[in-house]
Amino acid sequence: MAANHIYVLGLETSCDETAAAIVEVPVKDGAPTGPGRILANQILSQIDTHAPYGGVVPELAARAHLSHLDTLVAAALQDADMTLDDMHAIAATAGPGLIGGVLIGLTTGKALALAAQKPFIGVNHLEGHALSARLSDPVAFPYLLLLVSGGHCQLLSVTALGDYTLLGQTRDDAVGEAYDKAAKLMSLGYPGGPEIEQRARQGNRAAYALPRPLLADNRQDENGLPLNCDFSFSGLKTALRQAAEKAAPLNDNKVADLAASFEAAVAECLSTQTRRAMQIFRHDLSSAAQLNLVVAGGVAANQYLRQALRDVAEAENFALFVPPVALCTDNAAMIARAGAERFIAGHIDAAPMAIPARARWPLSD
Ligand code: KG4
Ligand code: ZN
Repeated sequence: MAANHIYVLGLETSCDETAAAIVEVPVKDGAPTGPGRILANQILSQIDTHAPYGGVVPELAARAHLSHLDTLVAAALQDADMTLDDMHAIAATAGPGLIGGVLIGLTTGKALALAAQKPFIGVNHLEGHALSARLSDPVAFPYLLLLVSGGHCQLLSVTALGDYTLLGQTRDDAVGEAYDKAAKLMSLGYPGGPEIEQRARQGNRAAYALPRPLLADNRQDENGLPLNCDFSFSGLKTALRQAAEKAAPLNDNKVADLAASFEAAVAECLSTQTRRAMQIFRHDLSSAAQLNLVVAGGVAANQYLRQALRDVAEAENFALFVPPVALCTDNAAMIARAGAERFIAGHIDAAPMAIPARARWPLSD
């Protein structure tokens, strides 16, 4: 590859953010050499559309993506002062996500690629999150990834581009979903994460004794490595509901205490299971490579959870990388970055126009 900078336009429409971005990735000897630059990062949140329903309404989301995506692409090209012709490739989220939205971004990406005669890359949204730290920091493979979003909660060993091993995952609700449901049952706004985080700052973390699901299962294999790095949040949500009903009528102080107690339970679950996954990751690592923990996904915006993970990383001698908040929540820069990494590595589908939209698409596939 002759060029020493790769430019990719990325599109994201899998949930309730419509987004288009352009990234520049420096390349040497067929590999990215650093974070590069985000030249455009257009993002339109649909929060106001969905807030009255307390959650994302798929049909409304799809319609909004369709109305705004072309304008956002034009704005991204303008921000970067570039044309489609300057792109090396066009990337779009091909799943997992709400199928109507995924179809709109995927079809738009294919149409743009076809019209501009550029390679098209269908990106797994979770791979976008998984690589998002490489947009902001020079973090090298391998790393342990804690992916915490509205749809996902998992621990993965990221060995190389496209090489992901699942170490643990939620057995029911995703952690962001748990925040959203917890907020709803305390009559707080949507999305619940930021609301609960803010209320919890005024609360007492020990006010209510809430469960820490699955932490008691500390079974080990014959090498002494943990067998359980999973999460479960639905029981915690039920316990919170019962505590809230018992404490009714709620006032600001009680809500703050409930939010703080809920967040303390979540933090302990995330940090304990991350610590267990670190033992597996360290054991599987062949050389004395640097130990890295990357946290990604919308919930990584939470400062209290970040501090809990910072403490675990420090105790276990891992370097911690958390992208800035704007790159933790859904965005298209991470999709463009994942597309660029695939383009650089030559991981390009032979029949890009046949790439399907997928509602489900596990990263470890
Ligand atoms: O990654 P993301 O933008 O979308 C998905 O792919 O799911 O994550 C959105 C989720 C929502 O559930 C939201 O409540 C949660 O991330 N979230 C937070 C915070 N900010 C967003 N959860 C906890 N604390 C926050 N500060
Ligand atoms: Zn996401």
